[in-house]
Amino acid sequence: EKQRLRDGFGREITYLRLSVTDRCDLRCSYCMAEKMTFLPKADVLSLEELYMLSDRFIRRGVRKIRITGGEPLVRRDILTLMTMLGERVSAGELDELTLTTNGTQLGKYSEQLKDIGVKRVNISLDTLDREVFAKLSRRDALDQVMEGIEAARAAGLKVKINAVALKDTNEDELPRLIEWSHEKGMDITLIEVMPLGDIETLRSDQYLPLTAVRERLKALWTLTDLDFRTGGPARYVKVKETGGILGFITPLTNNFCAGCNRVRVTCTGEIYTCLGSDGKLDLRSALRSATPQDALDEVLDRAMIGKPERHDFDIDRHDTRPAVVRHMSVTGG
Ligand code: GTP
Ligand code: 5AD
Ligand code: SF4
Repeated sequence: EKQRLRDGFGREITYLRLSVTDRCDLRCSYCMAEKMTFLPKADVLSLEELYMLSDRFIRRGVRKIRITGGEPLVRRDILTLMTMLGERVSAGELDELTLTTNGTQLGKYSEQLKDIGVKRVNISLDTLDREVFAKLSRRDALDQVMEGIEAARAAGLKVKINAVALKDTNEDELPRLIEWSHEKGMDITLIEVMPLGDIETLRSDQYLPLTAVRERLKALWTLTDLDFRTGGPARYVKVKETGGILGFITPLTNNFCAGCNRVRVTCTGEIYTCLGSDGKLDLRSALRSATPQDALDEVLDRAMIGKPERHDFDIDRHDTRPAVVRHMSVTGG
């Protein structure tokens, strides 16, 4: 049996972020441009191929798979793939199968996700204000997302809210958003905006360092650092006054690359070993070759050698040229 995935810096890769579509029903302004050219369907891996790929990663030591997009739940029949992966959780071969979603389709899918064995979902929500939401995501879909969140909770899924901290846009609303999440028994994580892809806005106009947010929150509440981790980059605190858990994802103000345990695969089978780099390798050709298992292993081994030590996001440099050319929606973060 082949070896576990380990990169050139000794980091074990146990977390696969699998993007199943580049499409989305929203157009969040930090993630996409208004006009996006989506991939032709023929370039996208079939569900069988996505499963075969996942299987190879599991055999090479991956213990956690997060389904992303675009918006993963806009892909037709995506629950077929998730059901098959859910069986690998039941078999003890995976610790966790989960997804990151914008929530618009959760009204439809929450019950089924629960049945498949999904225990928790991360739902992106940056504001509770309908107009701000519509402006930010360029779609008037807040009510639909709220229904989705309620459906997920009603189905017994543990929900974590993801909110990108945005200067001016939701800056003043963050304490309220945290309170609201905690009142509903949901954890919430704040995220620093990262310079991926050309968007219509200057990144410096969006960027809000979480060091500043944390100072403001400390003036309101008592925050206690927790050792609790979820396998992703977030560092968590307990908020004494609300009784809830709050996470911080700080690629810019507090680099976490030393503990990186993850890689990303796009819906066309490209592997990106770092969110902060456009370096990629092609798994699709390997998958479609005469000896897919060996060919996949060979590309994975090469990917491990090439995984960068860290990203070098620097918001000051990225108004003219983004750090990474591709949009966030290519890999789902
Ligand atoms: P948990 O399993 O709950 O820890 O989730 P997660 O934080 O791993 O995944 P999620 O999809 O909720 O991602 C939240 C944010 O973290 C997104 O903005 C991602 O882009 C960002 N993120 C996840 N992994 C990395 C990483 O390796 N590097 C950087 N810079 N950001 C990351
Ligand atoms: N920087 C930081 N987070 C982003 N997301 C999308 N684009 C960006 C960006 N440029 C977030 C989404 C979602 C998660 C997967 O990534 O809001 O919560
Ligand atoms: Fe869609 Fe998520 Fe990107 Fe918003 S952040 S446009 S919901 S993929």
